[in-house]
Amino acid sequence: MTTDDFRRLDLGFFPTPIETLPRLGRLLGVDLSIKRDDYCGFGGGGNKVRKLEFLMAEAVDAGVEVVITTGGHQSNHARMVAAAACKLGMQAVLVLRGHPPTEYQGNLLLDRLFGAELEFLDPVAYFDLIDGRMQAHADAAAAQGRTARIIPLGGANALGALGYVRAVEEMADQLRQTGAPPPDVIVVPVGSGGTLAGLLVGCRRHWPATSAVGISVSRDSAWFQDRVSKMAGECAALMGMPDTWRPADVWIEDGFVGPGYGQPSEGGNAAIHHAARSEGLLLDPVYTGKAMDGLFHLCRNGDIPAGSRVLFVHCGGSPALYPFAQALIAGQPMP
Ligand SMILES: Cc1ncc(COP(=O)(O)O)c(C=O)c1O
Repeated sequence: MTTDDFRRLDLGFFPTPIETLPRLGRLLGVDLSIKRDDYCGFGGGGNKVRKLEFLMAEAVDAGVEVVITTGGHQSNHARMVAAAACKLGMQAVLVLRGHPPTEYQGNLLLDRLFGAELEFLDPVAYFDLIDGRMQAHADAAAAQGRTARIIPLGGANALGALGYVRAVEEMADQLRQTGAPPPDVIVVPVGSGGTLAGLLVGCRRHWPATSAVGISVSRDSAWFQDRVSKMAGECAALMGMPDTWRPADVWIEDGFVGPGYGQPSEGGNAAIHHAARSEGLLLDPVYTGKAMDGLFHLCRNGDIPAGSRVLFVHCGGSPALYPFAQALIAGQPMP
């Protein structure tokens, strides 16, 4: 069985390229390449496109007219649900964690452009309220005779994770064509866990000797190990694979979150500057900058041994660069 056996919409432009990053790789002492899922185009791109190709196909088949989801202020996932809803003639409702903004910048601006209905929840009360608020929007749609669907945070469930099983299928094809060996380690940011779960399933099938490390942008390792191991098992079951994962089988690094989810970290900001100046590569302060900070440390402390073949998955997120403009240049000397 492959991901071709599932219903899927063509939302993005695939395959995305795999590039080498020779200057950054030399600095870190590894053979570094990058999967450019930031280049998948549709709606501003990023890792959510692959997940939504499966999740929105199911919604279309169910005759859904209103899609409801959640995330932080700068949620790329929420923005991509809004974009997909436009393309498919649906209405998107985004229930976001945070106070109503004074300025609509980055993903919030794009949410507005895509015509999404927005509701903001107090960041502390959010965790108690969110399920009820999303259900209330679904009920309100139903009362108007419209079919509604709640898409989980980050598109993270077994079906969404198929998007990253497919990414490994795609990368395995790409490397076969060039004759390059599989990577020793894949490095990816972890926010809701679906991307890492899909990568684990895809690697088990195609690259069994490859390990994957998720760099947390929010919670601690134990929380993600539990969640990702379960999701990987469920996703493998969808693929007809008998494989299961124990929490301890999932490699998560949780030392690079900084002050918290959605708040730039010193190390992440430094990594953003480094990537930009050494490779012309744009990362973001919420996800990929923190993941690159994690990669720098893992190479420096030897957890990723010198000479390893390392593949960094660029999950997109550059709209979040702009709302953090001042934090990113504060204290930086003019070149
Ligand atoms: C740019 C970016 N990178 C990484 C992630 C993390 O992916 P996941 O939610 O599948 O863990 C997300 C979404 O949460 C994202 O928007």
